[in-house]
Amino acid sequence: MKGIVLAGGTGSRLYPLTRIVCKQLLPIYDKPMICYPLSTLMLGGMREICIISTPRDLPIIESFLGDGSDLGVEFTYVVQEHPEGIAQAFLLAEEFLAGEPACLILGDNIFYGDYFQGGQAEGNDSGFARDVEEFAAGGRIFGYYVSNPQEFGVLEMNASGGVIGIEEKPQAPKSNYAVPGLYLYGSDVADVCRALRPSGRGELEITDVNRTYLERGDLEVTRLGRGIAWLDTGTPSSLQEASNFIEAIEQRQGLKIACLEEIAFAQGFIDAAGFQQLISRLPSCDYREYLERLRDQAV
Ligand code: DAU
Repeated sequence: MKGIVLAGGTGSRLYPLTRIVCKQLLPIYDKPMICYPLSTLMLGGMREICIISTPRDLPIIESFLGDGSDLGVEFTYVVQEHPEGIAQAFLLAEEFLAGEPACLILGDNIFYGDYFQGGQAEGNDSGFARDVEEFAAGGRIFGYYVSNPQEFGVLEMNASGGVIGIEEKPQAPKSNYAVPGLYLYGSDVADVCRALRPSGRGELEITDVNRTYLERGDLEVTRLGRGIAWLDTGTPSSLQEASNFIEAIEQRQGLKIACLEEIAFAQGFIDAAGFQQLISRLPSCDYREYLERLRDQAV
């Protein structure tokens, strides 16, 4: 499975912050936002990752992340000229995917919890990495209980909890289960996207992709339980809340969330020498001290 991070868009709700830099490079406590979705893909075992962003922002993201080789991964960069919809990511990344299944994560979605670190989700006894590894075809999305479903894609369920519909930002949501920005699809996803027509707002909608798989009886939905945090970063307040959340956990545990160097080492993407090389490039700072502590504990 190959990964895609969609990190473009206009970021208009965060203006004027996003006049300087794209939303996905804004800080979430102690690191740029894009580290969080990237960490989710890396924890899922993905090493080939395509990053899509605007012509303005892509070079800045690339100068921050490089080609990924120091992390034992491979980053491919693709421009999205205009924000013509989330589903367009699969058309832009078609060459990169080369017929493999894909996992798309939105660059402003932050996931935190056991399921993503090898633990379980509700009614599902494997972790995200196992789900990724075992995924073969069709679509797999997630459902997460929120207080404001009208701001998201929303699941409609029958009496026994089976998903029977999905609506994009409905005024009268049929449930409180929002669809987070993390999607797994089989190798036919680009064909599915090609068959879509732009919505009223002129975008290729991810909800239409999900509907296509649902109508075919080929969509699995995993509910992420209350023990998992799915954080929003779309507005100044939610950005601040996400920072506070990450700060609280990191301070309490003395462990970092979405530290890409740590994940690369823990996942075995790089060896001890590669880890030391990453450390030696850092200036003297808390982040370096943290990695040095991990290095010393590993010996
Ligand atoms: O966050 C989950 C939600 O994301 C889902 O529940 C919705 O079904 C889905 O449509 C999406 O809703 P948003 O209102 O958050 O979509 P937005 O247009 O804000 O785009 C989400 C991210 O993707 C944002 O960081 C910008 C980026 N993006 C978006 C579009 C439309 C792009 O990079 N290119 C695009 O063309």
